Amino acid sequence: MHACRSLPGFDSPAVCPALPVTFRNAVPQDVVLRQALTRQVVRGTSAFRAAAPSNIPLLVARLSGRNCRQESRRRARGEPPQRPEFRPIMRDVRELVDRIMVEKETELEGGAWTPQRLKLTLTRHLHGETVVIVANREPYIHERHDNVVEIRRPASGLVSALEPVMRACSGTWIAHGAGSADRESVDRFDRVMVPPEKPAYRIRRVWLTKEEEQGYYFGFANEGLWPLCHIAHTRPVFRHDDWEYYKTVHQRFAEVVVAEARTEDPIVLVQDYHFALLPRMVRERLPRATIITFWHIPWPNPEAFGILPWREEVLEGMLGSSILGFHTQFHCNNFFDTVDRFLEARVDRETFTISYGGEQTEVRRYPISIEWPPSALAHQKPVEECRRVVRERLAMAPDLRFGIGIDRLDYTKGILERFLAVERLFELEPHWIGRFAFVQVAAPSRSSIDEYQNFEARVRALAARINERYGRPGYQPIVLKIEHHTAEEVFELYRAADLCYVSSLHDGMNLVAKEFVAARDDDRGVLILSQFTGASRELHEALIVNPYDIEQSAAAMHIALTMQPEEQGARMRAMRSLVQEFNVYRWAGRMLLDAARMRHRRRVLSRGRRAPRLTAAG
Ligand code: F6P
Repeated sequence: MHACRSLPGFDSPAVCPALPVTFRNAVPQDVVLRQALTRQVVRGTSAFRAAAPSNIPLLVARLSGRNCRQESRRRARGEPPQRPEFRPIMRDVRELVDRIMVEKETELEGGAWTPQRLKLTLTRHLHGETVVIVANREPYIHERHDNVVEIRRPASGLVSALEPVMRACSGTWIAHGAGSADRESVDRFDRVMVPPEKPAYRIRRVWLTKEEEQGYYFGFANEGLWPLCHIAHTRPVFRHDDWEYYKTVHQRFAEVVVAEARTEDPIVLVQDYHFALLPRMVRERLPRATIITFWHIPWPNPEAFGILPWREEVLEGMLGSSILGFHTQFHCNNFFDTVDRFLEARVDRETFTISYGGEQTEVRRYPISIEWPPSALAHQKPVEECRRVVRERLAMAPDLRFGIGIDRLDYTKGILERFLAVERLFELEPHWIGRFAFVQVAAPSRSSIDEYQNFEARVRALAARINERYGRPGYQPIVLKIEHHTAEEVFELYRAADLCYVSSLHDGMNLVAKEFVAARDDDRGVLILSQFTGASRELHEALIVNPYDIEQSAAAMHIALTMQPEEQGARMRAMRSLVQEFNVYRWAGRMLLDAARMRHRRRVLSRGRRAPRLTAAG
């Protein structure tokens, strides 16, 4: 603060008492003083280096008073200082901050991606820009049960992946406020800070009417796009009214994005098939925004996608994005083929870009992951203890072996095929009857949709049939729990199980597979994984199966149950190191670095465009 007041003269010996003599002689006095002052501001405080990277611009600004604060903000946005006397000092501050960050980043680069590194990436490459996420599902839901308001974390891969990212980056998560006590838990701007135990970012809730929720979320998104994109042989339903609601709701979210962004060129992360039209709507309002859209589910081939009555509108909407991400190259390629088939666009498979209507979208593969180490692992008991507690709770014999399945109750997850594989295991290897059980946790999901109700009935019926056939007093071959479980309860189950079977018929990534691996710090347990998940492209040491092939899946269970500890350990260690390295901070970091590169390029090019043209006369 004092430093700033004495800026124009740089002549107070009290501000910069200790200048090296040689340095003083080598450069003009005002420069020497300025550099010393800057160093004092930036480096002189020993606490400064220890400060969180995201605080650096803030700290500089605080130290320098109100004018400095304004100038720092201009600088962070990449704009030149307005007040002439700030130009040299701000440049020096900037250079030193950059240098410190490069040092810090280099230190971290050798290591893993962590929340700190992600924060640093944001600060250094995006100048601490605020990140706005738009996702239908909110990370914390306030629910009223009688007189008590409870906060629930939804069962959602999207939420498990993005929540730790937001904890690291701060910013705003815009979502549909769907909880029964959501309205009474927000401030007058419809915002609430989360996580409740240690607030780090805010949720901005958007309210929808019952009809809007029905048309946009249950209807178009989940009866239309969801089965359209998952090849699970469930017919999509397209209703004109649902489509109208989908558009209306997107308009509403676009307004909220503009209000929450508060700058002309924010970084907006649009999540999933719930918001295919939103990128274009935001682009129309904020032409300079960097819009990163991530599609969490598979993208089908053009034939499959072509049945959508509004296929062109959906593609145009998505192409409002600066960057469009999918989990796998296969889905990127399907998207290229689809655009090529239905739009007059230039698809460049060499640079992974699509040019449409004078704008360019980069289409990239960003395989999503989980936080490492997972926070749900923090207070877990040792594996032996988990085994004992879980067996006791589920009334299982102490020596019973068991497998685990953790899903939302969704027809894409292959739960029926999983149970059939257990039944087949008993037919082929009867000695497992009474010695092995399968515990299926299924979080209720989208239960107002007919298809989901039918599916639940079929799951219950099949479990009952198998239990009838092979069960006996004190032994249930299929333990079916259709209820919500907390992340901690799920991790306890992962740790207690002998195997985990992920049998999705089609899945963008599937984070249960990665969570199971992350939970097994004892290097034990076997993962059986459907070849139709994105995760199977990365977790090669799992037993990879075709879930439709019941014989093969039953054989995989037998192999898993008889696998030697050494082999389990070797496989588990390889998968653990992959998930550790390619964690969710890296996923977010890569996208944000690509966004930073794009913003930098745009700045350079727009400066170039302003440069005077050379005429023939020179
Ligand atoms: O990618 C699909 C997805 O958004 C997942 O991230 C998540 O597991 C699931 O759907 C959540 O479904 P919903 O928000 O409808 O409960």
